[in-house]
Amino acid sequence: MVDRYRRDALSILIRLYEGRIAFLDQAYTACSLRYSPHERDLLVSLVRGVVKFREKLDTLARTYLPKWERLPPVIQNALRLGMFQLLFHTRVPPFAVVHEWVEVVRSFGQVAFVPLVNAVLRNVERDLAAHRAQAEKWGIDLPAWLEAEWRRVLPEEELHVLLRSLALPPPLYIRVNTLRIGEEELQKLLAQRGIPSRRSRISGALEVVSSYSALVRTPEYAQGLFYPQDLGSQVVGHLVAPKSGEVVVDACCGVGGKTLLLAQLMGNEGKLFAWDKKKRRIEVLKGLMRRSGVLIVQPEVLNCLRIPERFWFVADRLLLDAPCSNLGTVRRNPEALLKATPESVRQCASLQLELLREAFQVVRPQGLMVYSVCTLTWEETVGVAEAFEQEKGPALVRVEPEGEVPGRVRDGFVFLWPHDLFCDGFFVAIWRKKA
Ligand SMILES: C[S@@+](CC[C@H](N)C(=O)[O-])C[C@H]1O[C@@H](n2cnc3c(N)ncnc32)[C@H](O)[C@@H]1O
Repeated sequence: MVDRYRRDALSILIRLYEGRIAFLDQAYTACSLRYSPHERDLLVSLVRGVVKFREKLDTLARTYLPKWERLPPVIQNALRLGMFQLLFHTRVPPFAVVHEWVEVVRSFGQVAFVPLVNAVLRNVERDLAAHRAQAEKWGIDLPAWLEAEWRRVLPEEELHVLLRSLALPPPLYIRVNTLRIGEEELQKLLAQRGIPSRRSRISGALEVVSSYSALVRTPEYAQGLFYPQDLGSQVVGHLVAPKSGEVVVDACCGVGGKTLLLAQLMGNEGKLFAWDKKKRRIEVLKGLMRRSGVLIVQPEVLNCLRIPERFWFVADRLLLDAPCSNLGTVRRNPEALLKATPESVRQCASLQLELLREAFQVVRPQGLMVYSVCTLTWEETVGVAEAFEQEKGPALVRVEPEGEVPGRVRDGFVFLWPHDLFCDGFFVAIWRKKA
């Protein structure tokens, strides 16, 4: 019997490279209902790993197999997965890795390729110590245009630190539901379940040592005492810094990761409008609100490119966490690298500017507007923010974030680079509306 997680990893990769899967998280979830947390971790690690290091794995394969390009995708992907597992899953005996991948190939009906797959993996196994020493230094593979773009803003040495940092498995953070429980109390409860955690630089954000699937199977999760949320995302919520009793808008709220943090920071007092154009996301948010005891959110399916006049000038604060190329999240979601192109970045930037124009109407005079994106391309960050400022002229004043910011602040703009805080990358701009 072939392990399910290996078969599923191969099937997911084939579909991903054929463009039939957009988001890997959904693919993992679809399989993981049948899995133990450990199996899900292995699946995720394999697929993520191959997407992060595809070029390097292909180069390694070519040293043993000059006709690599002629192989059918199913064989190429099985070999990528097998090589990745040999190099990085050091606790699995190498002979078992080779045997298992040969059996996966057989189970996919590719009997004619069994000797070839066996030979290539055996060759990698023979020089394994040397290959592992090399692979330990690998940085993530970036498309040339993105590497060139980041090379323009980071010194060469730092670019390498960034690429190496993005190659590592992502950390797991949770947001403590401070409406229900304190950090320390939750830490104790999780520790009793064998899940250690430690405090971070952001209050209410804990780094946990656990697999995602084990974490979301705990009763504490079911009771709404915490929610998995990346540290960078939580920093953004703190930069919005809403106060109890205010009217706040979370435009483009998604399933409400930041919405629920904003509600917590408001002490569950005030009014919090949460909008997204996708009905399913708003439905998920409603469920999360019920579970976490948040009462002040008014979720609504709404196209933020056409915000009804009844919402104009209502907000003391507005967060626009705009759709973007997601390139700050590639440690967790390397598939973003497959979708992003200079053209798609341009399209995102133009949509972001349109959304900002519309969101501007919602903010009352002297109110605050926060623009965030989980990406770090110039066009979607400084490019959009400066274009918006130019359009609005004196009606908009750039505001420096208050207090100590756990990121880089340049000319008032906040840049969270993924290698600085070891979180997702974000850009944040804050403005006060003058008129
Ligand atoms: C970056 S995600 C938001 C993530 C969310 N703020 C969170 O913290 O979980 C961007 C969201 O914008 C939504 N969106 C895109 N275009 C929109 C539009 N015209 N109106 C409303 N929502 C939109 C997408 O459905 C997506 O959920």
